[in-house]
Amino acid sequence: MHTRREFLGAIGLPAAYAAVGGPLPLGGLRLERAVGVLEELSMVRGSPQEVAQDEGFWRQVQQAFTVDRSLVNLNNGGVSPAPAVVQDAMKRYLDFSNQAPTYNMWQILEPQKEGVRQRLAREFGCETEEVAITRNASESLEICQLGMDLAPGDEILTTNQDYPRMIATFKQRERREGIVLRQISIPVPAEDPAEVVARFEAAITPRTRLILMCHMINLTGQILPVREVVAMARARGIPVIVDGAHALAHFGFLISDLECDYYASSLHKWLFAPHGTGLLYVRREQIPGLWPLMAAPEPMDDDIRKFEEIGTHPAANFIAIGEALTFHQGVGPERKEARLIYLRDYWAKALLEHDRVRLHTSLKPGFACGIATVEIEGVEPGDLNRFLWEKHRIITTPITHEEFRGLRISPSVYTTPEELDRLVEAMEVVVREGVG
Ligand SMILES: Cc1ncc(COP(=O)(O)O)c(C=O)c1O
Repeated sequence: MHTRREFLGAIGLPAAYAAVGGPLPLGGLRLERAVGVLEELSMVRGSPQEVAQDEGFWRQVQQAFTVDRSLVNLNNGGVSPAPAVVQDAMKRYLDFSNQAPTYNMWQILEPQKEGVRQRLAREFGCETEEVAITRNASESLEICQLGMDLAPGDEILTTNQDYPRMIATFKQRERREGIVLRQISIPVPAEDPAEVVARFEAAITPRTRLILMCHMINLTGQILPVREVVAMARARGIPVIVDGAHALAHFGFLISDLECDYYASSLHKWLFAPHGTGLLYVRREQIPGLWPLMAAPEPMDDDIRKFEEIGTHPAANFIAIGEALTFHQGVGPERKEARLIYLRDYWAKALLEHDRVRLHTSLKPGFACGIATVEIEGVEPGDLNRFLWEKHRIITTPITHEEFRGLRISPSVYTTPEELDRLVEAMEVVVREGVG
């Protein structure tokens, strides 16, 4: 049994630290090792909710990123910075590829993608043979949206809060093939799962062939009852494409638990993988019936890899997903989720003290996670967004929807409470004085 001092000495940490017991000088260590060290020392003991408030733990996580601290980036929902270990891995693989691409990239790195596929399946709860690695959620979704045979008059059901590109995809099929897109409205926020299921159910007609729904809506961070909608639709023989661009690695769930046929996500949002990475899950029985976006040879018809036949592309991004998975596991998915909720509540509850502030996101457990959308009544989101950037160097996302509007705030695991204090203070100025 090592003493604490012996243990720190054994891993090469300065003995002085062991003596003082101050913040761990872990900047040079890889995060997963750092977290392991902290765990060994029982310094991160406690529930995810307790660790979520342990600023010493999160300081290590903050230092794993190379973000520009002269500004406050509260649009991590759009696309996330990758931690240094992920960036380094990607650059290493890119350099290696360029030494002899036809050999290093095609013969050595490409086959390594199989290890990444296995790890993604293991982490997110599905079979390896049901996971394709894509370039983003749009690609994953469009494979599903465009790869299904539909006849003129066939109906697709979705909401008026689904992602504009995905709506545009079906509208293009409307123009090209005469299918019909139906969009329902859902409550903002939606705190009654049964109500959401009922709205989808009420819009189903004998011509409904497919449902597209978000797992987490990008406009508000609303989490929808996917499992329940899928069960309702399955009973009517209607498959569901789930847009999980914001959900995967953001909050905890297993893809298999949702029981859907198709699930699509970005990996460059909440997994912090390299930019240009996404995941597509297709239930094994549905693979043969779904056409890939780029043609694949017939022997691949029932192989998930047919969706990856995209011609020459960098292998580095895809292989470095492995490093992002290790980072995610090192932080701990439950701790990450709890911290994101803690940070959201930190700014949101402070702002809700003011009468003119409204939140379009539920703070009740299970309905949202790290993303929330706030409105200061009487202030245009675009003006507020501009004010925060020009006067305070704070990046946010203005949301203008026909039924609601506000400013989307999406901090991440590297966001500090001080940065959120700056947001709150700047917003309080607007509450008092406007954007003037
Ligand atoms: C709900 C939703 N779906 C799809 C996408 C597209 O993701 P990507 O940019 O990875 O293609 C986004 C991006 O923000 C999104 O929010």
